[in-house]
Amino acid sequence: MKILVINGPNLNMLGIREPDHYGRETYADLVAKIQKHCAAKDILVEVYQSNHEGDLVDKIQSAYGCVDGIVINPAAYTHTSVAILDAVKSVSIPTVEVHISKVEEREDFRRISFVRLACVKTITGHGTDGYLEAIDYLTEEYRHDRHV
Ligand code: DQA
Repeated sequence: MKILVINGPNLNMLGIREPDHYGRETYADLVAKIQKHCAAKDILVEVYQSNHEGDLVDKIQSAYGCVDGIVINPAAYTHTSVAILDAVKSVSIPTVEVHISKVEEREDFRRISFVRLACVKTITGHGTDGYLEAIDYLTEEYRHDRHV
């Protein structure tokens, strides 16, 4: 089973940016936590981050036929990007949307999610544990559909 974890803009600033919303763990801590979790469960994982919308679209497209599930936190692009929504729809790979903070309890514009329309599940407000929950969901629900 292979999972691709995609993080959008400013998530490389975890640990520095707005700790009241995103906690004190750094982006490197997050990557290490995901890798350790997946190693223990024999899941192949790639963790990718970009601040650029087109790069995120390219990464989603490159997953076609190569991964069994995607975990995506598109960060600010969640609330604006039809391109990321269309990319997730294009590849037909089960995708879980993750947000570290409880987006529905913040500003009104954070309640809008374009990518959610293409996702099988959304996890918000569980901190970085939300990524692990998303990986577990995909590996449990889609283990019989695996291609990789
Ligand atoms: C976020 C929430 C978004 O609204 C914000 O733009 C982010 C991070 C989260 O993980 O809680 O950058 O996706």
